[in-house]
Amino acid sequence: MSEEAGSGGATDAGGGAAGAGRTAGLPMAVASEGLPPRVRIHEVGARDGLQNESAVVPVEVKAEFIHRLAAAGLTTIEATSFVHPKWVPQLADAEQLFPMLKDLLEVALPVLVPNARGLDRALELGVRRVAVFASASESFARANLNRTVDESLAMFGPVVARAREQGMHVRGYLSMCFGDPWEGPVPVHQVVRVAKALTDLGCEELSLGDTIGVATPGHVQNLLAELNEEGVPTHVIGVHFHDTYGQALANTLAALQHGVTTVDASAGGLGGCPFARSATGNLATEDLVWMLRGLGIETGVDLDALVATSSWMADRLGRPSPSRTVRALTHKG
Ligand code: HMG
Ligand code: MG
Repeated sequence: MSEEAGSGGATDAGGGAAGAGRTAGLPMAVASEGLPPRVRIHEVGARDGLQNESAVVPVEVKAEFIHRLAAAGLTTIEATSFVHPKWVPQLADAEQLFPMLKDLLEVALPVLVPNARGLDRALELGVRRVAVFASASESFARANLNRTVDESLAMFGPVVARAREQGMHVRGYLSMCFGDPWEGPVPVHQVVRVAKALTDLGCEELSLGDTIGVATPGHVQNLLAELNEEGVPTHVIGVHFHDTYGQALANTLAALQHGVTTVDASAGGLGGCPFARSATGNLATEDLVWMLRGLGIETGVDLDALVATSSWMADRLGRPSPSRTVRALTHKG
């Protein structure tokens, strides 16, 4: 990678000369060997981001957010969760929201479903893509799903089977892949066991969650190699980094070097997890797009439109976006 590519762009943008809508040509694209030509961004801001807001965002604002994300070129936008409304009141409007997205015919709109009741609700609305969400640690399985790890897998089994029978695409999230706030570091073999269980249940895609943001690049590559060793191929794996310690981009690059081509990110860096207080926002989609653009990797995303969307959402939420790229490109000084 060339230093020029990053520092030249960042200086121009951060100096106030760029401003929103002035990113043409920035950052300079300089390819780095061994990276994929294209990355699919799995946008989670509307779900992972908004589930963590203390205030409930009005359903019309959520619908507009998702439409704006689609207009910015995102093709996979996780819309909401069909979980117990008492557990996540921020997403209790899933039944109102989903029909408001019916014009987004070209966009994949996955939703989270934890159990049969969640799948029933999703099927009633014509949802085509669902995600179940397991944990590599017992503590988080208990906090998030009121179940042990194995009890949660038993709950997911019939859900995944029925969803696949209905022709749905099923993603399996796996949380706490690198560390857990109650248990500390999570052994790799423990992660691999649950990952394999999810793929054995029939999940076509596996998203490795660094729920509290404690992963570092060597750890990421080690886990990916172990998963491959145990028969989970790289092409089914996506990565889901939270940016608590500022490692999300470094970890993403490590995953790309390993061959991963699906990266979860959240517009404006919104996010966290109400059941793991030490989780902060996800990797910001803008920061990801900036890096990928600099590496000459295609995403199909219009960065200016995305920054404008996250600025608009930050105004709705009443606080600035934590994304460095959003801040740099909207800096007026
Ligand atoms: P439970 O209390 O054990 O539920 O919660 P239950 O199965 O005993 O059922 C109790 C009642 O809830 C019943 O109603 C059910 O019908 C109802 P009653 O008979 O008492 O009137 N119920 C539901 N209602 C609506 N929708 C449903 C549903 N399920 C049951 N789907 C449960 C178990 C799984 C439901 C609960 O723990 C839950 O909703 N958990 C969701 C937690 C969550 O959404 N967490 C955030 C997402 S995970 C995440 O953010 C991590 C990720 O980003 C990756 C990473 O960063 O690592 C994905
Ligand atoms: Mg998450």
